[in-house]
Amino acid sequence: MALSVLLPAGAPFGPDQISALNSVFSTSTAEQRAWLSGFLAGVQTANGPQQAVPAAPPKARVPLTILFGTESGNAEALAQRARRAAGKLGFAVKMVDMAETTPAKMAEIPNLLLIASTWGEGDPPQRAVDFYEALLDDNAPRFEKTRFAVLALGDRAYAQYCEIGRRMDERLAALGATRIVDRIECDLDFEAPAGSWIDTTLDRIGKESIETVMAAEDTSVIHVDFARGGGEAWTRAQPFAAEITEHVRLTGSRSLSDTRHIELSLEGSGLLYEPGDALGIVARNDPALVDAVLKAAGLNGETALRDALRDRFDITTLTAKQITDHAALTGTTAPGAGWAMGRQVIDLLEAAPHKFSPQQLTTLLRPLPPRYYSIASSRKSAGEEAHLLVAAVRYETHGRQRMGVASIDMNERRKTGDRLEVFLRPNPHFRLPADPSRPVVMIGPGTGVAPFRGFMQEREATGAKGKNWLVFGHRNFMHDFLYQLEWQDWIKEGLLTRLDVAFSRDQPEKRYVQHALWDAREELLGWVKDGAAIYVCGDMAAMAKDVNDMLVRILSKEQLDQLRRDGRYLRDVY
Ligand SMILES: Cc1cc2nc3c(=O)[nH]c(=O)nc-3n(C[C@H](O)[C@H](O)[C@H](O)COP(=O)(O)OP(=O)(O)OC[C@H]3O[C@@H](n4cnc5c(N)ncnc54)[C@H](O)[C@@H]3O)c2cc1C
Ligand SMILES: Cc1cc2nc3c(=O)[nH]c(=O)nc-3n(C[C@H](O)[C@H](O)[C@H](O)COP(=O)(O)O)c2cc1C
Repeated sequence: MALSVLLPAGAPFGPDQISALNSVFSTSTAEQRAWLSGFLAGVQTANGPQQAVPAAPPKARVPLTILFGTESGNAEALAQRARRAAGKLGFAVKMVDMAETTPAKMAEIPNLLLIASTWGEGDPPQRAVDFYEALLDDNAPRFEKTRFAVLALGDRAYAQYCEIGRRMDERLAALGATRIVDRIECDLDFEAPAGSWIDTTLDRIGKESIETVMAAEDTSVIHVDFARGGGEAWTRAQPFAAEITEHVRLTGSRSLSDTRHIELSLEGSGLLYEPGDALGIVARNDPALVDAVLKAAGLNGETALRDALRDRFDITTLTAKQITDHAALTGTTAPGAGWAMGRQVIDLLEAAPHKFSPQQLTTLLRPLPPRYYSIASSRKSAGEEAHLLVAAVRYETHGRQRMGVASIDMNERRKTGDRLEVFLRPNPHFRLPADPSRPVVMIGPGTGVAPFRGFMQEREATGAKGKNWLVFGHRNFMHDFLYQLEWQDWIKEGLLTRLDVAFSRDQPEKRYVQHALWDAREELLGWVKDGAAIYVCGDMAAMAKDVNDMLVRILSKEQLDQLRRDGRYLRDVY
């Protein structure tokens, strides 16, 4: 078969060489290319064309399955990283989403690398619920033939840190599987520890499985990743500085919330997002809080330290580990387990005053994690822009006013013309239906409505014929109806088929989106019968569970579970 993929323009050859090689490759047979690959490997090994012999055919490859459970893509991204590394080492590697398999299908697997995150309050990612429950079930299959290792993702700020990875790890061992290496638990700065754990684990599996796993074809062939889009080059460590081109407050001046529509220029980034994706934002801490932290730590803060605290360290959340580290450092007694609740680093430093060295202080702190915001636009409508919808987080605990790091940075400190550091967080599990004629029901109260503005722009630009139904909720019709005019225009155009709203404070009794769903239950059943996909986006604690309970009440648990399995009940909740 002729080769359809040729050398890219960026290959390290001159234009004439590229053209000559392409003309050879395009007419070569698979056998000729395999020979050539081996020949080049042999040249490289022997360090000279005269002695070159084609490399030996690959030895039997060690099978490896990388099983991941993810909500927002981190576990999947690590699984991909592990797959690339394992491929280079010569493993016969397979990547499997927990959403698409069962423990019964995994039980015969010889080598299993499991990567899973924890959500909610110690819950599995939504798409992994079935797998998780089946694994913990009394009827779960035995895993006696399996050797495994678990990478658990989490956030130390949560009481049930890495709970799901821990439980799966313990369960596999209880079901007879053999642990290859100890589980690793990773906090929000997981890239470096997870990366080196993956490398060590693969090395271990490889060494224990066969003497040499380096497949000859992989030792000297440079892998060109054709699938990689340019925009993926921007990462949390190397973000793109996007200019803010529009910065508008959407909620009225009398609203209790301050929600902004922010437009960012992605020009020159090559960053290609799809509706449903989110942007990661590398935000900065409040400079006033940085000064307060420095003062409480007995430091006057030269510029470099002040900048580091503003840009790189998490100076707000407080973990149990920080409390014990602080007690060890200061020689004080750590307060009890519940003390961290509602408190931050500044409270800890002020509770037991101590003079720190800059290094002691920074060692105590976690890296500042990025925050994610659903993209509220479609490239087909917004071109090289991404729009965000950001609600300012402000609250009071223990007598102190607290401010959200990123939302306040974006809404209050950044202005039009400033630059904001961003990177793409793809969300392949929250996409419009592939079939444009499928109806969609979008349930998005508050900022949860953001991706649905992107969905509507996309459906409009592509002329998708499927019906669209939005269920929106907030506090007050007058002050909080986000993007009101746009929804009304789409209704006039006939693109938005139906709009139901629930404003909680416009009448004596509280009314939320789940109540609007109940009122429209007959229509909802009809839409589902017609093949509709149901999307839910927004607050996890206060909304997603109530909406889920209501959907169970209207549709039954069995039907909702089936919709989820069929990719017709999709959630992006945070
Ligand atoms: C995939 C995804 C998409 C998202 N999309 C959006 C979006 O489109 N728009 C949007 O505005 N947000 C969105 N978020 C949420 C966003 O990422 C941030 O979590 C949010 O803006 C708060 O970040 P912050 O840095 O301002 O606050 P932080 O500094 O992170 O503070 C928030 C923390 O403060 C504490 N807290 C907050 N309120 C209270 C209270 N009343 N009492 C006690 N403690 C409290 C909680 O511990 C909370 O976790 C999304 C999140 C995810 C994961
Ligand atoms: C709403 C929410 C709830 C979370 N709950 C927990 C938790 O209970 N325990 C924990 O260790 N981590 C928790 N996390 C942190 C995630 O596990 C962490 O962000 C992880 O990297 C996500 O991986 P994923 O993208 O593969 O789902 C939570 C994160 C969010 C946004």
